[in-house]
Amino acid sequence: VKYRFAAPDDVATLALLNRQLVVDEGHPNQSRTLPWFEERMRTFLIQGYRAVLFKDAGCLVAYALYTQEGEDSDTIYLRQFFVCRNFRRRGVGRQAIRILREKIWPRDSRLTVCVLWHNAVGRAFWKAMGYQEYALELERLPTDDDCQA
Ligand SMILES: CC(C)(COP(=O)(O)OP(=O)(O)OC[C@H]1O[C@@H](n2cnc3c(N)ncnc32)[C@H](O)[C@@H]1OP(=O)(O)O)[C@@H](O)C(=O)NCCC(=O)NCCS
Repeated sequence: VKYRFAAPDDVATLALLNRQLVVDEGHPNQSRTLPWFEERMRTFLIQGYRAVLFKDAGCLVAYALYTQEGEDSDTIYLRQFFVCRNFRRRGVGRQAIRILREKIWPRDSRLTVCVLWHNAVGRAFWKAMGYQEYALELERLPTDDDCQA
């Protein structure tokens, strides 16, 4: 697997993959349009997020979007990680994470990622990558009663 950092020209491609990602992980953003994903991706990159594209035998097989955060910038927050559907369960995700760790991210970083509760595959993958449960985010959506109040 080879890699390169994304350029502004890659926003359309990244947005397309981001939309597939939210469908696959069961995220509520699924009904958003492609221009919405493009605009959001552009904003992430302006804000300092970096995107990496992974290719295998000339095919785009995965991407990652991450940022450095924390008081001492010692945390790498991986915001999006996606392996293209036809290339899953072949070790592509594992190789891409190895590249990020060995060639891109500072070695002594703390690594974080968020997984939707119902995304069992994502949870199994991150466990296999050595991530452990850290925090539990809860939500309560507004109900009709809230709106009438
Ligand atoms: C999660 C995802 C990145 C995994 O990528 P992948 O290239 O298929 O993963 P790999 O083949 O490198 O698998 C590495 C390990 O993860 C675990 N794993 C991966 N897919 C799995 C699945 N469907 N069921 C159970 N475990 C799985 C296994 O432990 C696997 O090791 P093994 O193949 O030796 O058993 C990919 O399925 C994906 O992009 N899913 C949709 C988007 C998503 O959920 N992203 C994560 C958001 S937080």
